[in-house]
Amino acid sequence: MISIALPKGRLGSSVYARLAAIGYGCPGMEEDNRKLIFEDGEKGVRYILVKPSDVAVYVEHGAADVGIVGYDVLLETDPDVFELLDLGIGVCSICVAAPVGFEDLHQAPLRVATKYPRTAKSHYAGKNRAIEIIPLHGSIELAPIVGLSDVIVDIVETGTTLKENGLEVTERIVGSSARFIANKSSYQFKRAGIEAMLAGLEAEA
Ligand code: PRP
Repeated sequence: MISIALPKGRLGSSVYARLAAIGYGCPGMEEDNRKLIFEDGEKGVRYILVKPSDVAVYVEHGAADVGIVGYDVLLETDPDVFELLDLGIGVCSICVAAPVGFEDLHQAPLRVATKYPRTAKSHYAGKNRAIEIIPLHGSIELAPIVGLSDVIVDIVETGTTLKENGLEVTERIVGSSARFIANKSSYQFKRAGIEAMLAGLEAEA
């Protein structure tokens, strides 16, 4: 049995579609229910649905053998896993964004709201700019509007959330897309099953 950790939410839909296209679809998984674990006994696959930012935690600890996770999460958390493939879906960028017209006058540490503190710190360390991180877990775009921060570091996909909240991209830090990852010992002991899945994903990537 191979366990695969999959992200719920927006990235989830394109990931499930890709898996279905290579014969790893799981009936019931996309239905509107609260079930978090699905099994396809015939195929020998268990699907575990988790928060996108938790996928690599399950894989690193071996609670899942493989997973599909955004590169943004890998960059932020640096898990000890094998990154086997870029699926080319869930394409987006980690960006700095600010209210339209914002100018950094460098008078005080820049207040940066983000759910990517490590990525943000390393970006500003590279520019030698002092910052204060305001850690948040969602709706990051709100922070500069209500004066909680000067700028945000967040994912931009279509740009709609920024636009609808009067923000604009001021810097693009790095691109991201969904990656197929594996637990290091699972890759050794369940290699045939994992490579079969990898081959299917490669053919569609
Ligand atoms: C992500 C991200 C932005 C939005 C960007 O949020 O944090 O808010 O998507 O997408 P867009 O450029 O297509 O508008 P998510 O939907 O994951 O929700 P969150 O606010 O709870 O983090």
